[in-house]
Order: sequence, then C-alpha cells, then structure tokens
Amino acid sequence: RPHRTAPHDGAEFVVVANRLPVDKEVLPDGTVNWKRSPGGLVTALEPILRANTGAWVGWSGIPDSDDNPDIEGIDIHAVPLSAQEIAEYYEGFSNATLWPLYHDVIVKPEYHREWWNTYVEVNRRFAEAASKAAGEGAIVWVQDYQLQLVPKMLRMLRPDVKIGFFLHIPFPPVELFMQMPWRTEIVEGLLGADLIGFHLPGGAQNFLYLARRLAGQATSKGTVGVRSRFGVVQVGFRTVRVGAFPISIDSGALAALAKTKRIRDRAAEIRRELGNPKTIMLGVDRLDYTKGIDVRLKAISELLAEGRLDASETVMLQLATPSRERVESYKQMRAGIEQLVGNINGNYATVGHPVVQYLHRPVPREELIAFFVAADVMLVTPLRDGMNLVAKEYVACRTDLGGALVLSEFTGAAAELRSAYQANPYDLDGVKDAIEAAVKQSEHEGRRRMRALRRQVLAHDVDKWARSFLGTLNAESETELSANRG
Ligand code: ADP
Ligand code: G6P
Repeated sequence: RPHRTAPHDGAEFVVVANRLPVDKEVLPDGTVNWKRSPGGLVTALEPILRANTGAWVGWSGIPDSDDNPDIEGIDIHAVPLSAQEIAEYYEGFSNATLWPLYHDVIVKPEYHREWWNTYVEVNRRFAEAASKAAGEGAIVWVQDYQLQLVPKMLRMLRPDVKIGFFLHIPFPPVELFMQMPWRTEIVEGLLGADLIGFHLPGGAQNFLYLARRLAGQATSKGTVGVRSRFGVVQVGFRTVRVGAFPISIDSGALAALAKTKRIRDRAAEIRRELGNPKTIMLGVDRLDYTKGIDVRLKAISELLAEGRLDASETVMLQLATPSRERVESYKQMRAGIEQLVGNINGNYATVGHPVVQYLHRPVPREELIAFFVAADVMLVTPLRDGMNLVAKEYVACRTDLGGALVLSEFTGAAAELRSAYQANPYDLDGVKDAIEAAVKQSEHEGRRRMRALRRQVLAHDVDKWARSFLGTLNAESETELSANRG
C-alpha cells in the first residue's frame, strides 16, 4: 500500500470521466484546436463543474497527449492513452464489449482477455490520476462504464475520500450481465463507491441482485424509488448506497436561448432554406446503432410509399455526429444508414428537393437549438438508451409550445416524458402510427402535450440531478441495512 504524506492538497470536488469536456484536434499545420466532446455525459456535467470549482480527470481523445487545455473554472488533469490502449480499452473493451452488452446486445459483445487486461490497467491509471487531483477528504465523482473499476482502486489508494459513481448508460438485465467473463470484478469494482447511481430504479435493482449473487454481500430487498428509497449493500463495515437519479439538461438556459430573436430568426431561415416544407422532421444523434436511426428512416420510407406522408411537403433532416469510427459495428451501421438515405431520396426526391437531408458532422450548439425550434416533429427512436438528452433538449427549446416528440419506449426519458408520442421501436407499424399522429396532430393537442412535457423537463433539470446525487452522497446514511432488509 503506497504511503501518503497527509494532508493532501488538491481539489475538494473531482469529476473522473473517460473524456475531458473538450476534445483535442491537431490540424495539418500542427496547430491545436479544442472542441466540445461528443455525447450526453459532457452536455450534463460541464455546467455542473463550471458552477462548482473543481477538477476534471479525463482523456483528450487523441493518442499520447497529456496537454491540459485551459478551461475557466475547471482544473484539468489529462490522462494520456497510447494508441494500443485506445484500441483495447476504449474501442475494444468499452465500446465493443461493455457498450453492446449494456444495450441489450443489439450487436454481439466481443470478449477478449487482452482487452480486459488493458481495461484494468487504464482504470488503474485513472484511479491514480484521481488520487493525485483530490484533496484530503474530497468528493470524487466517477462517471460511466469505461471506469467501473476505479471506485475500488481509488478507495485502496485514498480511504479518506468520498466516492460516488454514476452510470450514464442502461444497466442490463441480470441474464445478459451474466455473460460477462469478469462480472464479479466489475461488481466489486463498483462496490468501492459510497453511492452508485443509475438512471432508473430497474438498473439499481438489477445491480443489488448481482451484488448479492456475485459478490456475496448482504443487500436491501425493497424496491428502489426515483431519488428516494435507496438500496443498501453492506460491504464489511461499509454501507454502499444504490439509487436511481435520472439525468437531465440545463433546461432553463436552453429555453432562454431558444427564445432569443437571433435563434428564432435562424429557425425561420432554416425553414426557408429547406424550401418551406409543411413538415420538418428532425433526428439528432451520435451515429450509433443504439439510436434506431434506421428505424425512423424505414418508417418514413413506408409512410411515403403508402401515401401517408407526402414527399413534396416533407423534409427529414438527420444530423449525425461521427462516433467511434474505427469500431467495426459502427462502420457497418454507417454504411447501412447511408444506403437507406440514398434509397429514400432515389425513390422520392425531385430535383432540388431531397426528402432526407443528412449531415454527418456535429453542428454548433446555437445552430442545433435553431434546428430544434424549426422542427415540427422530433424523432427519437433508440432501440435502447440510458436516458437520451436530445429528447429533453427539444422539449426545453419549445417555449412556443409548438412541435411534437416521437419517443421510443426504450429510452430512460420515456419514464418521464409520458406525453410524447411513444412507440416500441421494434414494432415498425407502431412507429409509423406514432409519426403519422405527430405529423397530423391538431394545434390544440400539440400544445397540450408540449405543456405537460415542458413542466417535467423544466422542473427536473441537471442541477437538480447533481444536487440529488451529491446530496445523497454527502448525507450520513440513515438507512442501515437492518432497517431496510425486506
Ligand atoms: P449520447 O450521450 O448517447 O450521445 P444523448 O442524447 O444523451 O446521447 O446526448 C447527446 C448530446 O450530444 C446532446 O447534448 C446532443 O445535443 C448532442 N448532439 C448529438 N448529435 C449532435 C450533432 N449532430 N451536433 C451537435 N450536437 C449533437
Ligand atoms: C455516451 C456515453 C459517454 C460518452 C459519449 C460519447 O454518452 O455514456 O460516456 O462519452 O456517449 O461517446 P465517446 O465514445 O465519443 O466518448
């Protein structure tokens, strides 16, 4: 055990995530450019860390770089990864093993011992970096599936710190999790935390069952609530709590921006640029097979074929951020989607009027908000998604009570956004019916639904999420296992 020179001086609050909030890009002429990192984790955490000075430990997105970018209010600690570590820990174990396993095995997870070994090694490096960044008695908040071993490793290095862990993706059903050759190590890694958070009560309950079965620990058995009725695992003398904390967005800030004249004008201009169609449909995703981009394209294609949508008055705009492009399943999925886009346009476009417009690149934040304001129907159709922040962002931007949200039942957001047009993404007829209903809704019905959706999203923003998680982590655990054993 390494000896420490107490007291540690360092940050009181440390976020540990695979990614830094910004992604490093080296241009051909050698100049360095820092861009916003992709994905919902950074969207959610960045405003939290800006508001609470602290440190952020993460990787810059390219090989062998330990540059610390300058971000006001955040003390950055870059963790360097070699090209081989990126291949085995990030592309391999994180995104070709854990990601598909935790998303209902939509593609087949690959299990390789070398990947696992590198995952362990890189998790150790993050734990060491977190240990260096954290001051005496600090709060360290570890994020997501790439770092599930960090809580236990960090506890061995720094028994003085308080450790939270939050999983941003679904926690899978027990039957699927049991495939994992290193399932016990992962459960024990997570149990190093004082509080383990999931989006939904179901994930928390799956985890409690596994802590009992795989780690042999005594656990509470009652049902877990949303931000309430936490589960308890007794690990020796330590009490680990397990809860459901659905993540959200900075709703108020988004709504305020969406209302500005600048954004409204841009939204109107987008409609003109698209040829003033009657209906603008919008999809906004990382290009990922979990997102069901193919589902919505197939649904639209059939609706056009059946004459339930009119190609002359409809535009579908799909914005897709490139993601994990060296992982084989992502290459295949991209080819499939681009073929579908080509197919629909080949069949239904006229000169100067493509039905599907597809941009394979991230768009700037303000431009994205203008797209949300312009879109009559937002299509969010994942086969599985831990939460899906895009659905919440769309709702937050509709200060005018316009628009309609089509939402897959298999997103975490579906539990909260009950007034969306919900559908089972595996039931293509159901998806088509939901899209048609959303396109044809009366103004009155649309406003009624959007009002209800907005009430939910504005009342439960990302600040509430962080406060409920950190408040629970800080609170002395009143629920002893004996009191909670059911
Ligand atoms: P995930 O975390 O799986 O990518 P989420 O829906 O939870 O999915 O979060 C995605 C985040 O990335 C949202 O904040 C969304 O606005 C942003 N985003 C997704 N696609 C794009 C795009 N093409 N351009 C800009 N931002 C995007
Ligand atoms: C999801 C994950 C995040 C991840 C993001 C972007 O939101 O939960 O952990 O950072 O996708 O994916 P990437 O692989 O580019 O980091």
